[in-house]
Amino acid sequence: MGDWRPQVAASILTADFGHLDRVVRKLEKAGVDRIHLDVMDGHFVPNITFGPDVAAAFRRLTTLPLDVHLMISEPARYVHRFLAAEPETITFHIEADASDERIAETLRAIRDGGAGAGLAISPATPVQAAAPFLDWLDVIMIMTVEPGFGGQRFMTDVAPKLADAVALFAAHGTVGAVHVDGGISRDTAAVAGAWGAEVCVVGSALFQRGRDTADEVHLVRERIWEGRRSGPSTAGPR
Ligand code: DX5
Ligand code: ZN
Repeated sequence: MGDWRPQVAASILTADFGHLDRVVRKLEKAGVDRIHLDVMDGHFVPNITFGPDVAAAFRRLTTLPLDVHLMISEPARYVHRFLAAEPETITFHIEADASDERIAETLRAIRDGGAGAGLAISPATPVQAAAPFLDWLDVIMIMTVEPGFGGQRFMTDVAPKLADAVALFAAHGTVGAVHVDGGISRDTAAVAGAWGAEVCVVGSALFQRGRDTADEVHLVRERIWEGRRSGPSTAGPR
């Protein structure tokens, strides 16, 4: 496994939006590896969060890598504005209203803008749908909840799609990162790790009253390791 290390990307969706500077300091102190920014337009998903200006504000607040998760229609129209926030990655949904050409074009635009390009795959979409775009993919993000809200239950039966994403990158001979997003906590991280998740997005589990954020980060990382070591056989049915 070399110097592989499970990464925790903190989703701020359920954090206190009134004190984002305080939230970021707390997450930095808790040792998260990345900040995951959930952008929602009220059209692709039935929820609205924030736009590129808030993403740029996060860039001013922290030096941690920023992962922008676009849950919006017509991502091609907006990626250039999110690139201004100098994110580590920009990931949009393969289900967003776009043709294959537009998806490829958008991935290339993200890379040309200096960020890693990713496709997010909702629970009902097969991972194979990402196959035509592997030449331009740095991230495949497997949604283990329906996109739109934090605090939902982890969809265990979707987790094996992580292994499909790992296999897709391997078969293509490209080095890409597999992110898992939705319902990750100390109780579900081992399953995600077992099926191959490298970056785990953790949202509401980090903001539980009475729970220490740093403890949760540490526990999630440990459980990802445990899962990776024990492998899918112990992670439940495929
Ligand atoms: C859901 C978002 C996720 C979510 C994760 O649409 O993409 O990033 O905020 O939050 P939890 O960990 O609470 O599911
Ligand atoms: Zn997300």
